[in-house]
Amino acid sequence: MNDVSRETPPALPEAPASARGVFSSDRLTLIQRYAESLATDGVTRGLIGPREVPRLWERHLLNCGALAELLPQESSVADIGSGAGLPGLVLAIARPDLRLTLIEPLLRRTTYLQEVVDELGLTNVVVVRGKADVLHGKERFDVVTSRAVAPLERLLTWSMPLVAPTGALVALKGSAIVDEIEEARPVLRAFGCAEPEVLPVGEGLIPEPTLAVRIAWADPARARVVPRVASASGPRKANGAAKRRSRRS
Ligand SMILES: C[S@@+](CC[C@H](N)C(=O)[O-])C[C@H]1O[C@@H](n2cnc3c(N)ncnc32)[C@H](O)[C@@H]1O
Repeated sequence: MNDVSRETPPALPEAPASARGVFSSDRLTLIQRYAESLATDGVTRGLIGPREVPRLWERHLLNCGALAELLPQESSVADIGSGAGLPGLVLAIARPDLRLTLIEPLLRRTTYLQEVVDELGLTNVVVVRGKADVLHGKERFDVVTSRAVAPLERLLTWSMPLVAPTGALVALKGSAIVDEIEEARPVLRAFGCAEPEVLPVGEGLIPEPTLAVRIAWADPARARVVPRVASASGPRKANGAAKRRSRRS
């Protein structure tokens, strides 16, 4: 979702009927305004590719919105690598009870995120410019979300230090998640994570349901222990196969 384009953005399709199952009627206007912003400013500012516009609802907004079904009421949520706001801004729109912190290192993207937050009058969002580790040791969240940010083993090192003792990492992933979990076993063990749960997202609700992985602490009392493998720069040996899969997701 990050290719710069000089093409004229294609027209945004109308919100599909399934949007009513994901967003309550009093939030539909907000998600429509955000969709229009992504389809215009988002494209001209190089935050999403023009080819994403015709499938903005099905591939992006609806499955990010459907992720809300996995988030407990009134939880604090950090969304790492928010990009143009997926899934963080969509969750803030779908669920005004949540408190969202969007963590994104690139200035162009945080500028856009803050503009959308201001324009839509979202009072439940804070935008933080920085890599995920900017808040390590400073804040913990009930849920740490992400989509298309990194292979699971690296995502663990970025996300778990932000997860509260009774919280969880919840990442949108494609079907490659099963292999990613196997490749991340050493990091899962080093952190003391519980067995990852692979959960369907949006089944019976949206046209393109997807998968999420939810990972909690095995022992909440050990949640403050950050293992050596979990340095801010990530595990020493990056896994090539996982990296390639993540780029495709
Ligand atoms: C492929 S984009 C995905 C953006 C968005 N989540 C989406 O699904 O459209 C990956 C994002 O992760 C951000 N990113 C890269 N390294 C990061 C890190 N260490 N911590 C937080 N975000 C990071 C990038 O700047 C980029 O915006």
